[in-house]
Parts: sequence; C-alpha cells; structure tokens
Amino acid sequence: MSLTDSTVIQLKLAQIEGEESAPSACLTAMRVYHDLLLSMCDRLECIADTLPVPLNTAECQVVTQDLLPSMTASHHFEENRFFRDARLILNGGRALDDAIARLCEEHREDQFFAEEICEEMRSLITGGNQRNAEVTGYMLRGFFGQMRRHIAFERDFLYIPMTQKLVNL
Ligand SMILES: [Fe+2]
Repeated sequence: MSLTDSTVIQLKLAQIEGEESAPSACLTAMRVYHDLLLSMCDRLECIADTLPVPLNTAECQVVTQDLLPSMTASHHFEENRFFRDARLILNGGRALDDAIARLCEEHREDQFFAEEICEEMRSLITGGNQRNAEVTGYMLRGFFGQMRRHIAFERDFLYIPMTQKLVNL
C-alpha cells in the first residue's frame, strides 16, 4: 500500500500535535499543511499541462482522492488553531479580524471549487469529458492560482510575522 500525501501529513501532524501544543508546534504544523496544499497545486498544474489528454490516469485518481481531505484537514486546523494563535501572537485587532474573516470565506469558496474540480477530474478519468478538456484546464489553473495566492497571503501576513515575533521573544 502506498502512502498518499494526506496519509503522510496525518502521520507528521500526529507527531507534532502529540508532542506539544506550543505556538512553535502550531507554526510547524501550518508549514506542513501549506507545503501539502502547494504540492497539490503543483500536481494539478502538471495535469493541466498534459491536457487535453490526461496521460497519467493513476495520478489523476490519487489527486482527486487526496484533494478534498487535504484541504478539509488544513482548513480545520487553520480555523481551530492557527488563526487563534495568530490573534494571540500578533495581538489581534480589527484589521487582523477582517483578514481572518476573509480567509475563512476563501476557504469556503476553495472547498466548493475543489468539489467541482474533482467532478471534472472524474469525468476526465472515465473519458467522458474529452471535448471539454480546454475548459477543465482553465478551471484547474483558476483553482491552483487562487490557492497559491491564498497561501502566499497567509505566509506573508500571518506565518512569517508570527515566526518573527516568536524569535524575538
Ligand atoms: Fe487558508
């Protein structure tokens, strides 16, 4: 049995979360989740590049299987732990609350978008959607572009400032 990305991340996070609940563990876990989602973006980009023919059906299947669980786990962690720590470490405030509310809204949109992506991918795998490959490629690029921008914002405006604050304590 091969280990998928989501399995690997669950093992890593179980280790991290089992050891401590310190902010440094939160940041480590956030980095692992972000890396996982960015690797999903890279894999979706590779698939988009192969269209109109999905050359690697097995890879399409694994990505389709892993995408939603990976996103759900990451969003759950962010909304129940990472954003709470961000408010504490960065001393909260209206601007931070507004940014976090917007990020949570983007999570909902990304989740919905990911469900559509998975539907499209399943159609590609079964060969029933070849004539719409151009549309699928456009959707995939829109999805991973949006996800990369979201993660870049979380890194630049939350993760890095939080790390700097902890280093300077
Ligand atoms: Fe996020």
